[in-house]
Amino acid sequence: MPVTAGDIDAVCELINDLCGICLDASKSYLIESRLGQIVEKHGCTSYADLVQKVRRGTDASLKNQVVDAITTNETLFFRDSYLFEALRYKALPELIDSKEKTAFPTRLRLWSAACSTGQEPYSLAMTLAEMIPDVNRWDIQIMGTDISDAVIAKASRGWYATHEIERGVSPERLQRFFLADGSGWRVRDEIRAMCSFQRQNLLEPLGMSARFDMVFCRNVAIYFTREVRRDLFQRIATTMSPQGYLFVGAQEFLADIGPNFAPQNHCRGTFYRPNMTNIPVYVR
Ligand SMILES: C[S@@+](CC[C@H](N)C(=O)[O-])C[C@H]1O[C@@H](n2cnc3c(N)ncnc32)[C@H](O)[C@@H]1O
Repeated sequence: MPVTAGDIDAVCELINDLCGICLDASKSYLIESRLGQIVEKHGCTSYADLVQKVRRGTDASLKNQVVDAITTNETLFFRDSYLFEALRYKALPELIDSKEKTAFPTRLRLWSAACSTGQEPYSLAMTLAEMIPDVNRWDIQIMGTDISDAVIAKASRGWYATHEIERGVSPERLQRFFLADGSGWRVRDEIRAMCSFQRQNLLEPLGMSARFDMVFCRNVAIYFTREVRRDLFQRIATTMSPQGYLFVGAQEFLADIGPNFAPQNHCRGTFYRPNMTNIPVYVR
């Protein structure tokens, strides 16, 4: 069903309210291709009718269906390999060194915010397993969160089709970290055990009790307005240990959101350290 010029603003406003993604009339093809089936399946007379049904909230699952359909879940294992090299050769050795002087030298807390179907948190777990010889004796928790229930369910299963494995997993890693399972591959238990998954809308308060040593928030804030991005990264900084590390997407830079993060470079990779004195008290 085509979306009319009269309906487009209502749809874009709804999407913005639900998940912060900014759309406009130039994206009507995307709205039609992703929401058209939902409009028809729920017997809506128009896109504006769908918007009203979601806003009324009488069918709780409808909101989730819209979110699942409109979000872009593109991801792969070890995405942007030079960021994983910066992690491996600079951030992680520095972090492990600095941990040695603390009360919990073998405790690591990582957060993959907007983790999609789990390739990012599992890539982090594999990297830790490669870098830390006695990793089984460490207390490691990697939390993967996303707004979409569908991708969180897939991430939790830890099962990937061969074409997903072929996007980023080397034969050595496949052998070491996966088990053949039916027509695909299952993440081995020791990697799976480091990761947990839960739903988190990044627009909502971040109910995190952990102080994260590392946060990966990649390829999601690109869909938000500058104000929402700025607010999000300020709130993320408050969930991090002062010695923490923040990784953003390869095409993302934090220079325009103020002096809250100090960039660090390793070869082609950039990551950030939070600058807590610049985070306003009201978001700490
Ligand atoms: C392109 S994927 C990025 C996955 C992974 N971080 C990576 O870089 O490969 C973007 C993810 O952001 C999620 N997302 C979109 N809006 C969100 C929001 N408001 N809160 C949490 N996750 C959101 C989507 O569901 C999607 O899985």
